[in-house]
Amino acid sequence: MKFLSVVGTRPNFMKLAPIARELAARPDVEHVIVHTGQHYDMAMSDTFFADLDLPEPDHHLAVGSGSHAAQTAAVLARLEPVLAAERPDIVLVYGDVNSTVAAALVAAKMNIRVAHIEAGLRSRDRTMPEELNRLVTDQLSDLLFAPSLDAADNLRAEGIPLGRIRFVGNVMIDTLAHMLPRARAAYAPARYGVGERDYIVATLHRPANVDDPANLAQIVRALEELSHDRPVLFPVHPRTRQRMSELDVAPRGGGDLRLLEPLGYIEMLGLVAASSLVITDSGGLQEETTYLGIPCLTVRPNTERPVTCSRGTNRLVPADHEVIVNCARRIHARNRWSKPSIELWDGRAAERIARELCEDSAIALGSAVFQATV
Ligand code: UD1
Repeated sequence: MKFLSVVGTRPNFMKLAPIARELAARPDVEHVIVHTGQHYDMAMSDTFFADLDLPEPDHHLAVGSGSHAAQTAAVLARLEPVLAAERPDIVLVYGDVNSTVAAALVAAKMNIRVAHIEAGLRSRDRTMPEELNRLVTDQLSDLLFAPSLDAADNLRAEGIPLGRIRFVGNVMIDTLAHMLPRARAAYAPARYGVGERDYIVATLHRPANVDDPANLAQIVRALEELSHDRPVLFPVHPRTRQRMSELDVAPRGGGDLRLLEPLGYIEMLGLVAASSLVITDSGGLQEETTYLGIPCLTVRPNTERPVTCSRGTNRLVPADHEVIVNCARRIHARNRWSKPSIELWDGRAAERIARELCEDSAIALGSAVFQATV
């Protein structure tokens, strides 16, 4: 069988890695990788291919930055001839970015089956571009691989036929579990001169937080204040760096708030795994901190990953300087860490996906069993 994966952004690469490994181990399978180029620079893309031992993409569409419409349209136009030439049996799309929805649409219109990895997540917030991407991608997909039971339930509630849904677990956790020994061995905290469980890691890139000057200022002020208690390491996403300079939101100094370049996967994981707290608006970090048992404050009004709050270490907070500082200080005062366990977040999701794709034959759609029971 021939599979073709389409990836484009930093969080896609972690999802692709375990699938690429599983498919490479099957001699009867051909796996073609297309990089749309939505993320294109060394720090946001190339480093991840190296860290995750990913093969060079077979095709690079070089779509680059642009408005949502321009970026999505560029993927549509540039992917079509690649699919026409490659004629894969199934196109695999990952997560919820512009490249995901565009790839699903091109493939579906060419009558090529689409499998969505990380299907069914819903924030129910249609102001988020990612939510629109998720809704459309899931409607277009023939096979939907859900990372959690709530995600599988969302798909059912939207009328997706049960035979198309598979509850397989979380591929981000596959990558985390696979890379954790290497990340710990690299011991990133020592390189930054920070002590285990005595520093905060922060990331920020959602439009709602970084494009709104008031919200961005509130969050940066909170990080600045917390950095008087312990170091705050803040790898700054390019979008955020741009906004911080445009809006003139600069930390005032005095504490130990360190603005870093975006980090590679291994270094970031090493830092997160030994931190005392993560403050973020990232989707992946909510899951990774839950798996690691590290407290997480997510600066958003909602999450498409509710299991990280109900069962994990995640808590939603508003973009409010005082609330963020108070919550962070309470977490540090409690000084307690526990490692929750979530069904099928066990490092073997990609193995289940590859089995479904290759052995249970995705071709026999409709005959499959909905497995959302553990
Ligand atoms: C995208 C995804 C988001 C994901 C995030 C992870 C969509 C709608 N959004 O958001 O779901 O969580 O990636 O990072 O698909 N830039 C660079 N170098 C790069 C890439 C981007 O400098 O390699 C800059 C560009 O100025 C660009 C800005 O970052 O305009 C934003 O990039 P973009 O791909 O539009 O969206 P993200 O905010 O990264």
